[in-house]
Amino acid sequence: MMNIDSEKIFLEDCKILDISLLGQYLEVVLESFYISKYVKPGQFVNVKLKTPFFRRPFTLFDKGTNSFSILVKIVGKGTKEISEMKREQFLNVLGPLGNSIFDFDLYGLDAIDLVAGGVGIANMLSVAKLFKASNKKVRLFWGIKTKSEYFEKFFEYFDEIFISSEDGSIGQKGVITQVLNENYTGNKVYACGPVKMLKAILEDKVILPNDVVCSLESVMGCGIGICYGCSIGNSQYGYKLVCKDGPNFLLSEIKSLI
Ligand SMILES: Cc1cc2nc3c(=O)[nH]c(=O)nc-3n(C[C@H](O)[C@H](O)[C@H](O)COP(=O)(O)OP(=O)(O)OC[C@H]3O[C@@H](n4cnc5c(N)ncnc54)[C@H](O)[C@@H]3O)c2cc1C
Ligand code: FES
Repeated sequence: MMNIDSEKIFLEDCKILDISLLGQYLEVVLESFYISKYVKPGQFVNVKLKTPFFRRPFTLFDKGTNSFSILVKIVGKGTKEISEMKREQFLNVLGPLGNSIFDFDLYGLDAIDLVAGGVGIANMLSVAKLFKASNKKVRLFWGIKTKSEYFEKFFEYFDEIFISSEDGSIGQKGVITQVLNENYTGNKVYACGPVKMLKAILEDKVILPNDVVCSLESVMGCGIGICYGCSIGNSQYGYKLVCKDGPNFLLSEIKSLI
């Protein structure tokens, strides 16, 4: 283990305690004596793999005593490498990184709507646990492509669950932003999913971008604000770094940058 700086970022060799399939995703539980102590809902870690140049970022999915887990969607070389790993092997992890939901005015609320697209569900469990611990009302809106992505673990943390699938194989057929629109009661929203999902929320006339905190995914390099590989924005409205300024942003602040 190495402590990178005073912000409590650690470089830790984490033993894989468990690796199991949840729907189409893999939950990887990692032993951790440092990162697990400090990582907060909404933050991410950067995992070293055999892929050239850069580590791969994954959001905190769940945490326990001396452990935390990530939820991995297999999309390319790095994530395939994780899928081939076994218990007792080690992953070198940098974290915790980025801001957390505590950097936003969410925790004082009595109710929140969590909106996830696909593997964006990874962000939601730790947030739901936190809110439920204080008896706050948590609704989950989860949009997936098809039923094989679906899993039910941890659903006890949500008061209400809305599911949509693009092919109609489970839940309401269509996109989750439509389901949110139909059931919206004015709660603040925490959203994580593809940019097109966030743009659909922006186009919604009822939900105010000021009431939405979103977690952004971007291609990432260093993860600590040095390489500018995760920059979003444009010359007209300016730029932000997803790893350092985010990954969580008020939707109103980034609406012209995505
Ligand atoms: C802050 C943050 C948190 C993330 N949290 C999670 C998480 O909890 N679970 C999870 O499964 N994934 C998460 N991602 C995405 C994940 O980091 C990428 O899917 C992963 O890096 C891909 O690595 P790879 O080597 O398998 O793919 P590569 O071989 O590098 O690429 C394969 C394909 O995946 C696409 N891809 C690569 N990176 C991303 C990305 N960041 N977003 C979308 N598509 C990408 C590439 O364009 C390419 O088409 C997160 C990304 C960020 C920035
Ligand atoms: S990933 Fe390097 S600056 Fe954000």
